[in-house]
Amino acid sequence: MKPLSLALALAVPTEAYLRFGCATLSVQRLDPIVEPGKIPSSHVHQIVGGNAFNATVEPGSDVAAKATCTTCSFSEDFSNYWTAVLYFKARNGSYKRVQQYPNALLGDLTGGMTVYYMQADFSSNGKQKITSFKPGFRMTVGSPTNTAGKHPGLRYTCLQDIMTRFPETAEFPKQPCPAGIMAIHHFPACWDGKNLDTPNHQDHMYYSGTGGFVTHGPCPASHPVRMPHVALETMWDTRPFNDKSLWPTDGSQPFVWSYQDKQGFGTHADYLFGWKGDALQRAMDSTSLLSNGLKTQTVAQSNKCKINPSVREDIDGWLDKLPGQ
Ligand SMILES: *[C@@H]1O[C@H](CO)[C@@H](O)[C@H](O)[C@H]1NC(C)=O
Ligand SMILES: *[C@@H]1O[C@H](CO)[C@@H](O)[C@H](O)[C@H]1NC(C)=O
Repeated sequence: MKPLSLALALAVPTEAYLRFGCATLSVQRLDPIVEPGKIPSSHVHQIVGGNAFNATVEPGSDVAAKATCTTCSFSEDFSNYWTAVLYFKARNGSYKRVQQYPNALLGDLTGGMTVYYMQADFSSNGKQKITSFKPGFRMTVGSPTNTAGKHPGLRYTCLQDIMTRFPETAEFPKQPCPAGIMAIHHFPACWDGKNLDTPNHQDHMYYSGTGGFVTHGPCPASHPVRMPHVALETMWDTRPFNDKSLWPTDGSQPFVWSYQDKQGFGTHADYLFGWKGDALQRAMDSTSLLSNGLKTQTVAQSNKCKINPSVREDIDGWLDKLPGQ
């Protein structure tokens, strides 16, 4: 597979994917999918997307109908996407939050993530119908309680520079990464055709991929409906902490997810669908996703969309414990 940087440099309007930036909407302890109504939830998240995000988002409700702004550059995407937050643990035991920075080609977005929606792969829709998610649809991938990196779509890249894409590892890089650490989350793309959600937020979906941005395998009879392949890339700016004299004396790496995971196998992400009307379906029906007529907004407009935090606590100072842990 050629490096993504090359694929991007050669991007022409026949490629079958959406790739866009979403600035940070909020960083706080809320989780309307896994811990609905709980203020605060158990660990800190970084959230992007529409401003209808809240401690409670009623099951089945359409966030696109409620939101009035989004941090995503496609202005019809009021979906929410979130992951845990990375912290650096100092030798004296205190924690400091690691900042996020935008991918190359996304301009000056504040923090946030890069979001992908693929039909089959970067150059084809695989000659198959890709069905959009429905209002109220939600799912998660990964779990904070995982202790083995078995999911091929949940990976890390040690960034030598902003364009590095390989190799990927299942656990945190063991050496300092000159341009930070990229966390990658690939969601499953096969739906059971019935449930907008299931009790564990995963059983209604099936992952038929082998990792990375490659075509997913055929959907099984239990989950026959082929949905877009959604993926997230988050760039964590570990550069202020790359001096090895700050790292643990036992030679281990110093980064830890906000739910107290030092290996990284518990990495997970949440998705709450919220595209307006049939915008995503129209895009998926298009054979030319880069010239698909979707509405866009400026970086300044994306950066301006924010929500008032429901949880007021210090998440950014030097902390003697991780919030909620
Ligand atoms: C979030 O919920 C609180 C009540 O818990 C409400 O006061 C607030 O307006 C809600 N925010 C949004 C953006 O819906
Ligand atoms: C712990 O170490 C960090 C990094 O060296 C430092 O900035 C911080 O003030 C220290 N905290 C305490 C409580 O000593």
